[in-house]
Amino acid sequence: MAKAAALQLLLLLCAAAVVWAAEDGGAAGITKIKVYWHDILAGPNPTAMRVAQAASTNASSTYFGAVVAIDDPLTSAPALSSSEVVGRAQGTYTFADQKVIGLLMNMNFVFTAGEHNGSSLAIMGRNEVMSAVREMSIVGGSGKFRMATGYAEARTVDSGFKSGETVVEYTLFVKA
Ligand SMILES: *[C@@H]1O[C@H](CO)[C@@H](O)[C@H](O)[C@H]1NC(C)=O
Ligand SMILES: *[C@@H]1O[C@H](CO)[C@@H](O)[C@H](O)[C@H]1NC(C)=O
Repeated sequence: MAKAAALQLLLLLCAAAVVWAAEDGGAAGITKIKVYWHDILAGPNPTAMRVAQAASTNASSTYFGAVVAIDDPLTSAPALSSSEVVGRAQGTYTFADQKVIGLLMNMNFVFTAGEHNGSSLAIMGRNEVMSAVREMSIVGGSGKFRMATGYAEARTVDSGFKSGETVVEYTLFVKA
């Protein structure tokens, strides 16, 4: 009887260990990638261009209705001049909020160097730029990131108000 109870307890502990390991394995199955996104709006070689806007788009307000096309470099460290370019962020962002500066980001992170070279991730989500941390969805990918899901966290490093180059740190949590 005592032996049976001990065995049952052992089995329970094993089951708990398996559940714990599975959860741990899930976390371990997530690839974390940190890149720096450079949106260059000014100067001779802009990487972000306003391609459309409504007649009523108000630049003194939220820019609601404007659409910007981007082909922004992604680097491994914050400074563009001194870090490796590991890819490009290609797509558009739309000023999609009438009350605050809130963007709808639609972009592919296309990796062109480093360990993810040749693969890409599709990112879509709301980016309220004045918030400290913005969360967006990773909705797919290609190459090693086929069938990817996940999320991105964006944190502004440099607003670009003075420099004309907005730098944002993107931390990606990818399940593929
Ligand atoms: C643009 O937005 C500013 C700031 O909210 C406001 O003062 C101004 O009246 C707006 N201009 C137009 C044409 O709506
Ligand atoms: C990235 O991959 C492409 C295609 O395989 C290759 O031609 C290129 O040299 C690679 N670039 C780097 C920096 O590894």
